[in-house]
Amino acid sequence: MHFDLAQTDHLLSTTRAVRKRLDLTRAVPRELILDCVRISTQSPAGGNYQKWRWVIVDDPDRKLVIAEAYRRSYAPYIAKQQEAVARAGNTAESNPIIDSSTHLAEVLEQVPVLAIPCALGQPADAGETGGSQQGWWGSIVPAVWSYCLAARSRGLGTAWTTLHLPYENEVGDALGIPDTVTQIACIPTAFYTGDDFKLARRKPAEDVTYWNSWKQTDIDS
Ligand SMILES: Cc1cc2nc3c(=O)[nH]c(=O)nc-3n(C[C@H](O)[C@H](O)[C@H](O)COP(=O)(O)O)c2cc1C
Repeated sequence: MHFDLAQTDHLLSTTRAVRKRLDLTRAVPRELILDCVRISTQSPAGGNYQKWRWVIVDDPDRKLVIAEAYRRSYAPYIAKQQEAVARAGNTAESNPIIDSSTHLAEVLEQVPVLAIPCALGQPADAGETGGSQQGWWGSIVPAVWSYCLAARSRGLGTAWTTLHLPYENEVGDALGIPDTVTQIACIPTAFYTGDDFKLARRKPAEDVTYWNSWKQTDIDS
């Protein structure tokens, strides 16, 4: 089978953090979410143990608990970001990330689905089974990103968020998540408005690729 590289590269390089373009008015069928989770189950995991679960939250009261926790973290976080922006001589209005993050914080409970990927256990447990923290995190993060990619290819926008996590226990209580389980993120998921997304400005691959030794960027070395 040959992949259409133009299509797959486009998917991989334009799956953005969608905040302002989440359609808050259109319900997301549970089957579509299940399709994204199904794709995520194919991601790699240490020992091939899928030691994770998805808690999909589409109940308004429970979404509100998550959104309120998120906003409590967001306020001091964004104040610090704004200070940094001001120190750099810019205004908040000229910073699109602050603008769109604030929008998401304000409407979070209105997003049709808040998906919470959860790892069974705690990062500190990794050593007990002869593993490492890197292996522990590396066994869940690919599944979460696969979910985001699968969503995008189905017309759903997502944003990887973590700001509710300082209140993980409170949110866990509302969702019946045991304290032996670690919440990894909260992924707001909704149909996106508009047609397409653009490539973001990133460091050139040539600058972040070292050949055989640290800082050796010359491909002909
Ligand atoms: C680990 C992680 C945590 C993040 N936490 C948040 C968050 O709490 N709120 C938010 O609005 N965006 C969050 N983001 C999204 C980033 O801000 C976003 O990926 C980054 O600005 C690049 O934008 P792009 O994905 O659209 O290219 C997070 C992303 C990652 C990978």
